Amino acid sequence: EKGGHDYFMLKEIAEQPKAVADTLLGRIDGAGSLRLDEVRIPVGVLRQVDKVVIVACGTAFHAGLIAKYAIEHWTRIPCEVELASEFRYRDPILDQQTLVIAVSQSGETMDTLMALRHAREQGSKVLAICNTNGSTIPRESDAVLYTHAGPEVAVASTKAFLTQLVACYLVALYLGQVRGTKFADEIRDVVRDLSRMPGAVERVLGTMGPVRELARSLAGKGTVLFLGRHVGYPVALEGALKLKELAYMHAEGFAAGELKHGPIALIEEDLPVVVVVPSPRGRSVLHDKIVSNIQEIRARGARTIVIAEEGDEAVVPYADHLVRVPVTPTLLQPLVATVPLQVFACELATARGNEVDQPRNLAKSVTVE
Ligand code: F6R
Repeated sequence: EKGGHDYFMLKEIAEQPKAVADTLLGRIDGAGSLRLDEVRIPVGVLRQVDKVVIVACGTAFHAGLIAKYAIEHWTRIPCEVELASEFRYRDPILDQQTLVIAVSQSGETMDTLMALRHAREQGSKVLAICNTNGSTIPRESDAVLYTHAGPEVAVASTKAFLTQLVACYLVALYLGQVRGTKFADEIRDVVRDLSRMPGAVERVLGTMGPVRELARSLAGKGTVLFLGRHVGYPVALEGALKLKELAYMHAEGFAAGELKHGPIALIEEDLPVVVVVPSPRGRSVLHDKIVSNIQEIRARGARTIVIAEEGDEAVVPYADHLVRVPVTPTLLQPLVATVPLQVFACELATARGNEVDQPRNLAKSVTVE
């Protein structure tokens, strides 16, 4: 049942190209337009939306953080992302023009369910992004866009995360499409780029040998830090979460720009620091800034593990370990950049003798608040 893999997690990591392809399937027509008939919220209502609020927990929350960049860029609608467990208790400002997106693999997470109930009580429309047919969260929402990751058995979320990202991109593009934003041309390009992502994820999976080896060599470490900027920041948070839950190590993700505001004090000789580097094309300012961040931490002794696009030569002199990912538009990079971090955490957990599919103290679906 593990399809020749030692763990469900490895099987599910390997299934990601298919999960991404299946989640795109039938949702983009031949002309490159979004076909999201499942989103039964009337187009007239979507045109009136003046704020998007994403609520989710854990890994799904990280998908939401990435979605914010895409939604705001492609639609110019302000977007907030909030941990579902915090949302309801701060009396959030919601009305009929707010679109709430609840992201949940299981569809049973109590915190997320309570957040969406609260949003609907305030008159907001709720769209669920969910991987489990007929579960509670989609049943209680106004509409649902299912992710087609297939059943996820390992407690640590991998393929569900990638498909949550795809679903978020689709919703963002769909909102852009129904509202006719001036990014129409860009939207067509993104649709084309999205259709290439299953192949890109496959390519990353084919190059994970050195990542596994590196992970095993770090099994005795106490701490690993993760840095990123822009969409690389939530990727860093996700990399740290995977390492905590699987390897039981102290791991933290930071926005690289925050280094000088505190975290740089943590850098010491031989501390492993994973840095997610955005594409040098397009947003080159972002890229240059992170290259100087890598220089800064390396000058203080950090062991730098750099995740960077193929052909990005600027990072080479400062990378103790270099992990290449295919060239993608910046907003889509999380789909490839997350994969090495999943493999890294899984291998470290194995090297430390941990139970990969069933980490201590965790449950696959959290049905208490
Ligand atoms: C992390 C993980 C958890 C879940 C979180 C939300 O690997 O699996 O952080 O992402 O409990 O679960 P769902 O998506 O089912 O609402």
